[in-house]
Amino acid sequence: MKRVDDFRLRLGKHELVPIMIGGMGVDISTADLALEAARLGGVGHISDAMINTVSDRRYETRHVKEKLALYKYNVNNEDKSAVKFDLGRVEEATRLHVEATMRRKQGDGLVFINCMEKLTMNAPRETLKVRMEAALDAGIDGITLAAGLHLGSFGLIEEHPRFRDAKLGIIVSSVRALQLFLKKSARTGRLPDYVVVEGPLAGGHLGFGMDWAQYDLATIVAEVMHYLREEKLDLPVIPAGGIFTGTDAVQFLEMGAGGIQVATRFTVAEECGLPTEAKQAYFKATEDDIEVNQISPTGYPMRMIKSSPGIGSGIRPNCEAYGYLLDASGKCSYVAAYNREVAAHPEARKIKVMDKTCLCTHMRNFDIWTCGQLTWRLKDTTNVLADGSYQVPSAEHIFKDYQFSIDQQLALPPAVAA
Ligand SMILES: Cc1cc2nc3c(=O)[nH]c(=O)nc-3n(C[C@H](O)[C@H](O)[C@H](O)COP(=O)(O)O)c2cc1C
Repeated sequence: MKRVDDFRLRLGKHELVPIMIGGMGVDISTADLALEAARLGGVGHISDAMINTVSDRRYETRHVKEKLALYKYNVNNEDKSAVKFDLGRVEEATRLHVEATMRRKQGDGLVFINCMEKLTMNAPRETLKVRMEAALDAGIDGITLAAGLHLGSFGLIEEHPRFRDAKLGIIVSSVRALQLFLKKSARTGRLPDYVVVEGPLAGGHLGFGMDWAQYDLATIVAEVMHYLREEKLDLPVIPAGGIFTGTDAVQFLEMGAGGIQVATRFTVAEECGLPTEAKQAYFKATEDDIEVNQISPTGYPMRMIKSSPGIGSGIRPNCEAYGYLLDASGKCSYVAAYNREVAAHPEARKIKVMDKTCLCTHMRNFDIWTCGQLTWRLKDTTNVLADGSYQVPSAEHIFKDYQFSIDQQLALPPAVAA
C-alpha cells in the first residue's frame, strides 16, 4: 500500500514531497505555516491578500492609517472611484512580507505566494503587476495565480528578469479555464510550471456557481490530464479540495497527479493565523454548520461556517482604509447593499445587510470563517482536552500525517495536558 511519501513532485530541478499547503488570505496561511511546509520538503504559500493591512500588523508600517487620512473626506460618498492605492506602498508591503518570510526559510521545500485576481484594488492591472513584481524582486520561489482567469497576468510580468526562472502556476476549476489561460498566455512563450485543479469542496472562493455540488474533483482532474496529454504538455497537475487524508491524496497521485494541495486540515494548526476562537469553531462545526453562499462582493460563491460573526453585519464600508475589493471603477457590491439598507431604514441605529458582506473588514478581523466542506471532520483529527476544547496540532504533525498515513487513518497529535 502506497503512502504520499512514495511519490515526489518535480518542479524543474526541485524534487519535493508532493504536499502543497494552499494560500489562505488574509494571513491565515502565515509565513510560519508556509515555512513549515518548506522545511518539511513540501510547498507552502503565503498570501498577498490585503497586503498593506498585513504589513501594518507585522512590519510596523502605517499604510492603512495613512490611506484613511488621505481619503477621509470621501467616507460618506457612495462613489469610491477616487480611493486609490499608492503603488509604492503596495510594493513596499509585498516586499516586506516576502523578504521577511524568505529570510527565515529552511529545508529543501519552496514558498510560493497566492495572488488573487479578484482582489481588484480599484486598479486591477496596475496593482496586480506591482504585487507580482515585488514578490519576485523579494525572492519568492513562485507565484500561484488564484481567484480569476488571469488571462493577462503572465503578460504583466513578462519583462521581469525572474519571469522564466520563478515557478508560476495557475488555479483552475475546469478544462475550459485552463484552455483559455494557455491560449491567452501563449504569446509570452511560457507555460505554467504547475496547474492546481481546485474542485467544489475547497475553502475560500469557489470557481463554480451555486450548482457546485454537481461537480466532482476527480472528474475534472481526469479531464485536465486528458487535455494536457492530447496537447503533449507535460505539466504537473495538483488537485485540491476535499483531500482530507494521506489515502485520499494517494488516490490522486496514483492517477498521475504531480502533487496535492490542501488547506482545511491546516486551518487548525498552531502556525495558522486564525485566532483561537475561530480554530475551536472549525473543530466544533458539524456538516450542517457549513454553507456556500453569495455574500462575497467578489461575485464568486464562498464557503463558510454559518455562525461566522461577520455574516449579516451591517457595518459601514471601510473602503477609504481598505478598499481591496473595489473594482476598476471603484465599486463594491457591499457598498451598494449597505446604502440600500440605510435608505430603507433611515431611523435605524444599527442595520443588517444579509446579501453581501464587507469582506475586507471581516477578513481582516477574522470574522468570516471561510472553510472547506470537510471542516466538520476536523474534530476527528485531534484530542479533546479536559476543558472540553480541542487540542491544536502542529503543522508538522498534520503534514506528516498526510505524508505517511495509510488506510484512511488519521494520526492524533501526542496528547498534552489541558
Ligand atoms: C480558510 C481558507 C482560506 C482560503 N483562502 C484562499 C485564498 O485566499 N486564495 C486561494 O486561492 N485559495 C484559498 N483557499 C483555498 C485553498 O488554498 C485550497 O486550495 C483548498 O481549500 C484545498 O481544499 P481543502 O481545504 O479541502 O484541503 C482557502 C481555503 C481555506 C480553508
